[in-house]
Amino acid sequence: MPRSAVKTTIGSQFTQLSVVDSTNIYAMKLLQANLAGHGSAFLAREQTAGKGQRGRKWQANPGENILMSVVLDSSFLVISQQFHLSLVVALATFDFLERYIPEGLSIKWPNDIYWNDRKTGGILLETSLSGNKWQWTVAGIGVNINQVDFPDLNKKAVSLKQITGKTYDPALLAKELCGCIDQRYKQLKKQGFLPLLDAYRERLYKKGALVRLKKDNIVSKYLIQSVSEQGELIAEAGMEYVFTHGSVEWIG
Ligand code: BTN
Repeated sequence: MPRSAVKTTIGSQFTQLSVVDSTNIYAMKLLQANLAGHGSAFLAREQTAGKGQRGRKWQANPGENILMSVVLDSSFLVISQQFHLSLVVALATFDFLERYIPEGLSIKWPNDIYWNDRKTGGILLETSLSGNKWQWTVAGIGVNINQVDFPDLNKKAVSLKQITGKTYDPALLAKELCGCIDQRYKQLKKQGFLPLLDAYRERLYKKGALVRLKKDNIVSKYLIQSVSEQGELIAEAGMEYVFTHGSVEWIG
């Protein structure tokens, strides 16, 4: 298995799993055992301990959605550049969904994919370090495809099927998503992160709108402005505020 063959196409090693705790955990274990490398992709039918952001669970009906982790060589990035791969994966997921949903998509900071005010995909990046550099990133991606009932999320989640009325093959779509990640990853390596940051800013959820954000248990209204080169959310409420990932929560 090539450990860092950056020329490898993402998804060229594509493994389909029936039941797994979490594809992120699975991919990380294989990396540690030298059995996965750049571009390895793992798609599960079902996860028993799917992980979401902020320690939350990611729940999805078996066989109905994309539950996938992709291994990315991140050894060319220093610690402060972690946001660059977040850009790659969020934009790639957006690109993929845009093929099916031409209107209403946006990227909710830091990396949720929204259709209008409902979440259609989420991303969890987990990294391994080597000295002062990232070594590997496991990009875990959950996209709602054919699921039409979201018991705990009522009107907050939405699937591709609910938007288009069609049913899809999650494995075929997951391979297509790998192609989109490959393109954005190669763009980052070739052109640097600024063109990706521009594309991300153009797609930013609620840009120019007033939203409620919770910081240190206080909910206030902010005007969403942009995202900094370091990946912080820039918002205004009388003065400019800069929020790091995890320091603020969207409300409503
Ligand atoms: C979020 O909270 O929005 C992030 C969700 C990420 C879910 C995906 S599903 C595939 C991969 N494996 C996991 O355990 N989580 C990610």
